[in-house]
Amino acid sequence: MEFKTAGVLFCLVFVAVRVSSSGLEVNLTRTWKQDIGWEINCTWELPPRDYLQSVRLYLNRQQFMIFRPEIDGLERSLMIRRLEDGVVTNCGISSVDRRRGSCVITSELYQPQNNSFTLQCEVSGERPTFIMEKKTIVVDNFVPPSDAVLTRVRSLNDVSDRVTLNCSASGIPSPNLTWTIGSQKMPHEFKGTAWNVTSKLWDVWSIVSYTPRSDLTAVCTPEATYKGEPVNGHSAQYNSAAIEKGALTSIITVLAVLYLCRLR
Ligand SMILES: *[C@@H]1O[C@H](CO)[C@@H](O)[C@H](O)[C@H]1NC(C)=O
Ligand SMILES: *[C@@H]1O[C@H](CO)[C@@H](O)[C@H](O)[C@H]1NC(C)=O
Ligand SMILES: *[C@@H]1O[C@H](CO)[C@@H](O)[C@H](O)[C@H]1NC(C)=O
Ligand SMILES: *[C@@H]1O[C@H](CO)[C@@H](O)[C@H](O)[C@H]1NC(C)=O
Ligand SMILES: *[C@@H]1O[C@H](CO)[C@@H](O)[C@H](O)[C@H]1NC(C)=O
Ligand SMILES: *[C@@H]1O[C@H](CO)[C@@H](O)[C@H](O)[C@H]1NC(C)=O
Repeated sequence: MEFKTAGVLFCLVFVAVRVSSSGLEVNLTRTWKQDIGWEINCTWELPPRDYLQSVRLYLNRQQFMIFRPEIDGLERSLMIRRLEDGVVTNCGISSVDRRRGSCVITSELYQPQNNSFTLQCEVSGERPTFIMEKKTIVVDNFVPPSDAVLTRVRSLNDVSDRVTLNCSASGIPSPNLTWTIGSQKMPHEFKGTAWNVTSKLWDVWSIVSYTPRSDLTAVCTPEATYKGEPVNGHSAQYNSAAIEKGALTSIITVLAVLYLCRLR
C-alpha cells in the first residue's frame, strides 16, 4: 500500500518537472581543478526552432555577466579580479547547433577560500515565448582530504629504538590527521598547516614517534566533515615488520646474485 502511494507521488513529481522545463534544459555543475580552483559549467539546450536570447550569470545573487549572441556573436569572455580570486568566464554557443551552448566560469584562488559562494545561470530563449530556466549551485569551501602520505623521519635526536613518522595530506579546510598505533589512538607530537599557493589547498602534516614492534601497525587517517558527515582520505600505514621483511628479501636477492656470479 505504502509502496503504491510512493509510486503515484513519484509520477506526479516527474510530470511536474517535465511540464515546467518546457523543453529548455540547463545543467549547472562544479568541479575542483587541481592547481587552479573551482570550475563551474553551465550548459543548455533549447527546444527545436528556438534560439538563445540571453544568459545571465549571478555571483552571490548579483549579476556579473550577460551573454547575448545577437550583440556578442558566438562567444563572450570576461575577467573579474577579486581579493581572493580571479574569475574568468567564457560563454559561447555551438556554431554547429545554435540551440546548444555553455558558460564556463573558473575561479582561480589567490588566497585561501574562506566562504562558500552561490552561482546562478539563467538561460532565456527568443521571442515570442522567452522560455526561461534558472539553475543555482552552491560552491562550498570544501575539498575532500587527499590520501595520507607517510614518511619516516630520520633525525639525530631519534632515540635508537624509536621510529618517528610524518604523515601529510591536504584539503579545504585543512584535514585533521588522526593516529592509531596498534589499537590505541595516539596524540601527535607536532603538527603544521600551510596554504599551498600551487595546489590552492591546505597542506597539513603531523608527527608521532613510538617504539616499533612487529605486531604494531601505525595508521594515519586524514579526516574532515562535510554537512555533518565524516569524509576521510585513505589511511597510510607503517609496520616495522613489513620493512624488515623487505630488507630480508633484498639481502636474499643480493646473496643469490653473488652466488650466481661465483658460479660463472
Ligand atoms: C562543459 O560541459 C559540456 C557539456 O557537458 C562539455 O562539452 C564541456 O567540455 C564542458 N566544459 C568544460 C570546460 O568542462
Ligand atoms: C544535462 O545532463 C544530463 C545528464 O547528465 C545529460 O543527459 C544532458 O545531455 C545534459 N544537457 C545539457 C544541455 O548539457
Ligand atoms: C581568509 O582567512 C585568512 C585567515 O583567516 C585571511 O588571512 C584572509 O585574508 C581571508 N581571505 C579573505 C578573502 O577574506
Ligand atoms: C613533514 O612532511 C611535510 C610534507 O612533506 C613537510 O612539509 C614537513 O616539513 C615535515 N615535517 C617534519 C618535521 O619533517
Ligand atoms: C604544493 O602542492 C604541489 C602540488 O600541487 C606540490 O607539488 C608541492 O610540493 C606543494 N608545496 C609544498 C610546499 O608542499
Ligand atoms: C578537526 O577537529 C576539530 C575538533 O574536533 C573540529 O572542530 C574540526 O572541525 C575538525 N576539522 C575538520 C576539517 O573536520
